[in-house]
This record gives sequence, structure tokens and C-alpha cells, in this order.
Amino acid sequence: MQAADWDARYAERQQWSGEPNPLVAELLADLPPGDAVDLAAGEGRHALWLAGLGWRATAVDFSATGLARGRARPDADRVTWVAADVTAWDAAPSSQDLVLVAYLHLPDPPMTDVLRRAVGWLRPGGRLLLLGHDVVNLTAGVGGPQDPAILHGVERLAPVAALLDVDRLATVPRATPAGTALDTLLWGRRAR
Ligand SMILES: C[S@@+](CC[C@H](N)C(=O)[O-])C[C@H]1O[C@@H](n2cnc3c(N)ncnc32)[C@H](O)[C@@H]1O
Repeated sequence: MQAADWDARYAERQQWSGEPNPLVAELLADLPPGDAVDLAAGEGRHALWLAGLGWRATAVDFSATGLARGRARPDADRVTWVAADVTAWDAAPSSQDLVLVAYLHLPDPPMTDVLRRAVGWLRPGGRLLLLGHDVVNLTAGVGGPQDPAILHGVERLAPVAALLDVDRLATVPRATPAGTALDTLLWGRRAR
């Protein structure tokens, strides 16, 4: 989907709850705050939540309409909002303590290249958290995009995981009203 498609979707209505994804919240809630990039932040639910915990959060997305929804939320001025295409946007090398990539789905190229660059933004010990729809969701889960070329998976993420000290690289269940969805989780840190 192009930026205009996402703009149209966000213009229709709020797409996601204002709350963080439960697994994102579980993994990040107790980390000491620092500098964070929320890549493909959409309406900014995670960037806003992180900022509330004391993080200096930068929300990057190419949908100006999605970002405008986030900017309209209370305390939105705590977040730095950036309208940009993630395939071209860059943070300074070794400048971030966390890069969060939640439900960004792109084909390859450019998905793996985007993630490789994101690892380069991390300080030693900094964390990458990627969560998104897993390719096995097509046959064993519910909802999500149906194009296998843009779905994540443990094998597809292996080249990115190889750049990290990995805590978890796995397919994980997510409860939805329609049933159990299957997501890919990559949770790791840049070596010190
Ligand atoms: C499913 S939404 C997820 C939003 C947010 N991460 C969340 O979990 O609430 C996917 C987002 O990716 C953004 N996106 C897709 N391709 C992008 C690109 N090339 N550059 C910037 N943002 C992109 C869309 O605009 C959309 O906001």
C-alpha cells in the first residue's frame, strides 16, 4: 500500500486502539527510558505510550493523516513526529536505545534492508523489537494481510537476527475477537 492508501484508511476512522499491543507493552514496560524510534508508527499508539514512560520517542510514518491522529492525542508534543518513507529515512548511527517496528509489512527488497539499517541506529545494548503478521497466519491464523510476499517469518528475519544478540525469534499467538492470530516476534539487542 502507498502513503495515499494509508491516508485514506486513516481518514475513514481510527484504525487501532490507543493502547499499545500487549506483547510490546510486556517487553518494553520495564526498560529504562532512552531514545526510541517507532518505525511506521501510524497513529502513534506506541510512541505516545513510550513517551508517557519517559522515552524520547520519534514516530516515523509516511501517512500524514495517521500521524495527524497521533498529534491530536493528549501529550502528543512529547513525541517527535516525522512524515517520511521508512525506505529512505535514516537516524544517526548508534543514536537509539530502542527501535520498534510494529506491523510494518513491505516486500523484499526493501524490508530486510530497512531492518538492517535500523540495527545500525542502535547503541551497543540497544534493543530491536519487531512484531508483525507471520506468514503462517495465512493457513493457521486469522486476519492480517493475505500477501505472503509482505509477511514476516522466522526464516525471513534470520539475516536481521544474525546482526543481534537475540532473546526471541519466534511465531507467537495473539488473541483477537475473531480467533488466534499468529505474529512473528524478533526481540534482540545490539552486541555491546
Ligand atoms: C498496520 S499499520 C501499523 C501502525 C503502528 N505501527 C501500530 O502498530 O499501531 C502500518 C503502518 O505502516 C506505514 N507504512 C507502510 N509503508 C511505509 C513506508 N514505506 N514508509 C513509512 N510508513 C509506512 C503505514 O502508513 C501504516 O501507518
